[in-house]
Amino acid sequence: MDLHPESLGSKFVEDPQAFYRRLRPSGPVHQVIVWGGVRAWLITGYEEAKALLADPRLAKDHFKALELFPPGLGGPHRSPLSANMLHADPPDHTRLRKLVNKAFAARAVQHLRPRIEQIAEELIGDLDTRVTVDLIQSFALPLPIRVISALLGIPEADRAAFVSWIEPFIGSTSAARQRSAEEALGDYLPRLLADKRAQPDDDLLSELVAVSEDDDRLSEAELLSMTFLLIMAGYETTVNLIGNSVFALLRDRDKVARLRADPTLLPAAVEEFLRLESPLNTATTRFTIEPVRVGDVEIPANEFVLVALLAANHDEARFNHPEELDFTRSANQHLAFGHGIHYCVGAPLARLEGEVALGRLLDSFPNMALDTTKPVPQYRKSTLMHGLRTLPVVLNG
Ligand code: HEM
Repeated sequence: MDLHPESLGSKFVEDPQAFYRRLRPSGPVHQVIVWGGVRAWLITGYEEAKALLADPRLAKDHFKALELFPPGLGGPHRSPLSANMLHADPPDHTRLRKLVNKAFAARAVQHLRPRIEQIAEELIGDLDTRVTVDLIQSFALPLPIRVISALLGIPEADRAAFVSWIEPFIGSTSAARQRSAEEALGDYLPRLLADKRAQPDDDLLSELVAVSEDDDRLSEAELLSMTFLLIMAGYETTVNLIGNSVFALLRDRDKVARLRADPTLLPAAVEEFLRLESPLNTATTRFTIEPVRVGDVEIPANEFVLVALLAANHDEARFNHPEELDFTRSANQHLAFGHGIHYCVGAPLARLEGEVALGRLLDSFPNMALDTTKPVPQYRKSTLMHGLRTLPVVLNG
């Protein structure tokens, strides 16, 4: 047990692995301070993380979490759109998840491959090969948002405005900007859903509207917050997957050559990037509804728990040489997509986007390299996300 809880501050954000290496000798459970002064429990061991992600004594209900949260501090987002499936417990979660699974199952994700390839090609075609480009701004950010727009069926005419409302949710944009973007979305999404109801199309939102009219109905508010969740959950996470993968790959010239020589390694490479540089540093916030013993530590009831996915994915007890990038790693059962009832709905789509993005970049730019004359890339300030602000790359390096 840590007598002096660490704060999850800039050291945690800039070099989480060093932070975790320092904590590891004192066990898999640590008291920490987050969100400007709240005590939470950080879980860093793989087995403990996996067990707790599936433990019903750890709850997520948005409204109960808010009650536990000291007033006046940052912390969980307080908007009605945040009262979604990711922040719900059974039986609500079970019902919502069944409906979204049904909507996703009706649309085989592999069918999206040509569309994702087309989006990647368009973005690559717009890149300036004569200068250093910021691959986050010009490729990793726009790709997932365009894929989400296509998946959900955002009409072409609304796309630019839609993107401008979504962008403020990435990183540490001011609360005021986020609020106004949220208001704009809160105004737009009900109109979009009404249009999908009146004129269904071949897209996920139309499917969701249709399943919401079956027996297990989604209320209007649930449909709205589910739409918001699908937009948000698939955005910054995928940006980070692309950015972190390219950054890790370009630091290792041998691995770049290996992947170019054998593109069949791409799916395994994406799994390894998910493990090594997990797009989410910690899972979303959970809280104990009764005391929970983890090894020799007892976490009291009504306390916040942060499961450190990135730490679990670097646990030496589970992965040999966890700091190494190894495309041939066997049984790479990382926790980057979570575990248990909240396991990522979009995992197949995210894997596909990662594969297409990396594959297209490698094919298009045989000499792509990091621009080492620029300052070392920094991470966006977040305890949840693990992703770069910028990634300066020369494409014809
Ligand atoms: C590399 C990209 C992605 C990563 C690393 C990722 C990771 C995760 C993780 C760790 C969770 C569980 C969080 C927790 O238990 O606290 C989750 C849940 C979820 N993800 Fe993803 N995700 C990614 C992309 C996507 C995409 C593309 C979509 C949809 C289009 C999506 C939709 C969701 C949804 C709806 C949930 C909530 C599931 C539930 O509560 O039952 N994700 N994701």
